[in-house]
Amino acid sequence: MRLNEIKQQFIETFGGDSADLRAFASPGRVNLIGEHVDYCGGPVFPAALTMKTTIVARKRSDNIIRLKATDLDIMVEADINDLEKYKGTLKWGDYQLGVALELQKAGYTIQGCDLLYDDTTPHGGGLSSSAAIEVSTALMFATFSNEINQKAGPVDMIEMALLSQKAEHNYIGVNCGIMDQFASAMGKADHAIFLNCATLDYELVPLTLGDCCLVLSNTNKKHSLGASKYNERRSECEAGLKALQTVLPNIQQLADVTVEEFESNKQVITDPIVQKRIKHVVYECARVHESVDALKKGDLKTFGLLMNASHDSLQYDYEVSCDELDLLAHEARKLPYVIGSRMTGAGFGGCTVSVVKTAHAQDFIKTLAPIYEEKIGYPASFYITEIGDGGKELL
Ligand code: GLA
Repeated sequence: MRLNEIKQQFIETFGGDSADLRAFASPGRVNLIGEHVDYCGGPVFPAALTMKTTIVARKRSDNIIRLKATDLDIMVEADINDLEKYKGTLKWGDYQLGVALELQKAGYTIQGCDLLYDDTTPHGGGLSSSAAIEVSTALMFATFSNEINQKAGPVDMIEMALLSQKAEHNYIGVNCGIMDQFASAMGKADHAIFLNCATLDYELVPLTLGDCCLVLSNTNKKHSLGASKYNERRSECEAGLKALQTVLPNIQQLADVTVEEFESNKQVITDPIVQKRIKHVVYECARVHESVDALKKGDLKTFGLLMNASHDSLQYDYEVSCDELDLLAHEARKLPYVIGSRMTGAGFGGCTVSVVKTAHAQDFIKTLAPIYEEKIGYPASFYITEIGDGGKELL
C-alpha cells in the first residue's frame, strides 16, 4: 500500500483529517551470511530490504494506544500505564506493546496515540517482519517522547534495536540475537552491514553484485520462531561453550574460537549433537569474514561457494533447515546462472537467498516455481530484492 492509501485508511478508521498525521517506517532484512551466530557473539552480514512496516500515527490526549493493521479487522486498545498486563493475551499487537513497555522501562515517555500498521514484509517468511514492526514502533515512540521532553537530536537507532530485542525476549519469549533489529534500524540502501554482534561495531559494505541480483524464494511454509527449536539451539551453544572453556579458558563466547582451536579441542564436547552445533558456529563465523573479503574484491564466485557451504552446514550440522528450504537451495544451485544459494534467517521455513545473474532472474523463477509446487504441493513466492534504508520518519 502506498503512504497516501494508508493515510486514507487511517482517516476512515480513526476519523479526523490528515493534518496531524505522522508516518514512520522500518524494513525487514535478508541475511547474506552468518546464520545462527549472532547470539554467539559472531559476525553477521545482513542487509535491509525495501519491504517494510509503515506506521501512520496520530497523538492522542489521553493514555490510550489504539492499534490497527491495514489487513486485519481487529483493533487493539491498551492503557499506557498498564502495558505489562496484555502480555501473552493478544492475537496481534504484542510486538508493539512489548516495545512500548521496554522504552518506558528505559525512561522514555510513552504517548497515547492511534496507530495504523501496514506491512509489506511477508509474515513468517524469515525476513524479520517482526523486527520491522518493533523498530518502527520504537522509533515512533522515541520520537514522540523526545518531543514531549523537548530533547533535541536524532533518535539513537542502535538503542532502538537493543530495546526492540529486549521486547522480543521479555514480551514475546524468543531469546533472539541482535541481528534482525540492528539491520532494520541501521540498514542503508545498496549496502550490507558487516556487524560484530559482540561489540556492535559495524561497517556498511557497498553491495556491488555486478551483473547479478539477489532473489528471495519464500517456501511459504508457516513457521513460528517461538515454537521452533531456536531456544534449544541457544542452550546447545551454551553447553558447547562451557565444555570448550575447560580447555580454552580465555574464550568468552563461541565466536572467539578459531577453526584450528575447535578442531584440536572438539573432543571435550562429548555430546556429538552439541559438537555438530559448535562446528557450524565456528566455521560459519570464518565464512562471514571470507565472504566480506571476497565481496570487497568483487569475487562473487567465492562468495557463492561460501553461501552454499553455509546452507549445507545449517542443513546437516545445525539442523535448522527443512525439506522445502533444501529443495529450493539445491535446485537453485543446479542452474548455471546461479552463483550461490542458501537459507536465510532462523530456518524451519521462510526463505532462501540466491545470487543470480540478473539477465536470468525470470528464468530462475520460471524454473524453480513448478519444481517446488510439484514436489511440495503448494507454490513458493519469489522476490527480486532491492536493498533499502533502515528505520526513519517519512516526511
Ligand atoms: C532469527 C533471530 C536472529 C538470528 C537468526 C539466525 O532471525 O531473530 O537473531 O539468530 O534467527 O541467524
